[in-house]
Amino acid sequence: MSTVIIYASRHGCAEKAARVLESKLENNVAAVNLKKNKNIDPAQFDTVIIGGSIHAGHVQGKIKKFCGEHVDILKTKKLGLYLCCMEEGEKAQAQFTGAYPAELRDHAIVTGLFGGEFDFERMNFLEKAIVKKVAGISASVSKIKEDQIEQFAAALNEAK
Ligand SMILES: Cc1cc2nc3c(=O)[nH]c(=O)nc-3n(C[C@H](O)[C@H](O)[C@H](O)COP(=O)(O)O)c2cc1C
Repeated sequence: MSTVIIYASRHGCAEKAARVLESKLENNVAAVNLKKNKNIDPAQFDTVIIGGSIHAGHVQGKIKKFCGEHVDILKTKKLGLYLCCMEEGEKAQAQFTGAYPAELRDHAIVTGLFGGEFDFERMNFLEKAIVKKVAGISASVSKIKEDQIEQFAAALNEAK
């Protein structure tokens, strides 16, 4: 049984989540950065996990494109979808709804909102200015939800 985690990450949070998931999943797992490998073929795996992050209200275009191009094959797989973002509650949920097509959200056996990070070391000048203005935050902060990642991995490990 093979699993692939296909992710996109601007400052490394969705990538960290992929690494944590990789360590907690029981199957043979590959983690693939969509920015570096655009030609990954989900047909080759039994389980597919897709993870992105939200910037200015939207998930990465690469995630949208990948989901759109592979929707039919993804609907035949054990599917997990996750998102990293700093909003909480209903806003986070609405961002998740906007990030993934309904067909895939309905098909997924597990979905996860893993929290997020503001990493000032990795932001450019404009990003720092936006985060200061919009979120009122001017230093790095991590709100990754390890418990949510744990539950997500457990659900996939239990799905036979
Ligand atoms: C410029 C900028 C804009 C952001 N916009 C949003 C947003 O609209 N909604 C949200 O929930 N989080 C927002 N975030 C927080 C990111 O989702 C968070 O930093 C996340 O951990 C990024 O994951 P990544 O490093 O994998 O890209 C924003 C962060 C930055 C730097």
